[in-house]
Amino acid sequence: MSLSQPSVSNNFYRDNNATVGSLSLFSGIPLSIIPRPVLPYGQGALAPYLSLNAVSLHYGKHHVDCLKALHNLIKGTQFETLSLERILKETVNKRLQFKIIFNAAAQVWNHGFYWNSLKPCAGDKLPPTGHLLRLMNRDFGHFSDTTKDDRGLWRNPGFKQKFFDAAKAHVGDGWVWLVIVKGKLEIITTSYADAPCTDGLKPLLCIDICEHAYYVDYPNKRTEYLNSVLDNLVNWDFAARNLKQKF
Ligand SMILES: [Fe+2]
Repeated sequence: MSLSQPSVSNNFYRDNNATVGSLSLFSGIPLSIIPRPVLPYGQGALAPYLSLNAVSLHYGKHHVDCLKALHNLIKGTQFETLSLERILKETVNKRLQFKIIFNAAAQVWNHGFYWNSLKPCAGDKLPPTGHLLRLMNRDFGHFSDTTKDDRGLWRNPGFKQKFFDAAKAHVGDGWVWLVIVKGKLEIITTSYADAPCTDGLKPLLCIDICEHAYYVDYPNKRTEYLNSVLDNLVNWDFAARNLKQKF
C-alpha cells in the first residue's frame, strides 16, 4: 500500500508569523522545511459555535504543540529535511518502526485540514453546489433531510445525517472525513492520530471529533458540537476545491 495523499490542499501551511496578541505561537520551533500552520480566519471568527477560547486552545496550544513535538522527534533523523507530506509518505507503511513520528505528522496535517474545513458564516448558509452536490445526490441520495418521524429518526437520511451518525458512532477520539475513492464519495472515520492517506483515497473535508475539539464549548456533548459545526461552519468551498484537484 503506497501513499498518494495528503498532498491535496496542502497550501494551508504557509504562515510563519501567526500570533496570539503579541505572543508568537511558534517561539521555540525552528524554521524548517515543515511550514507552520496558518489559521485561515481570526481565532474568534467561528464564535458563537466555536468560541475564541476554544479555538485559541485547540489551534494555539494543541496544534502548535503537535508541531513542536514533530520537530523534536525528527531532529537529527532522516526526516529532518523532509516536508510534512513526505514524512507521512515515508512512515505510513512503517508504522511499527516510526509510529510516533507518523502519529505526530498526521496530527499536524489533520489539524491543518480541519481548520480549512471550517469557516465563518458557512454550513447551511453556503451548502454544496455544482459537481459536489451532484455526487452527494448520487452517492448519499441527497444532501440533507430535515424531517424526522415520531421516534425522532430521519425519515430519509442524506449526507448530513449519515456524516453525523458516523461521527457520533465513532468510539474514542478521532476524525470524521468525507473522502472520494474511485470516483465515489464515502464517509469514513479514523482514530486519534491516523490520517486517510492511502493510495486512491482523497480527503475532501474533515471534522475533528477528539474530545479536546469540543470540551471547552460542548463539555461531553459531541452531538451538539457536530450539529453546530455541520449546520454553521462547514466549508463546502474547500471540499469542492479538493474535489477538483488532481491527485
Ligand atoms: Fe484536535
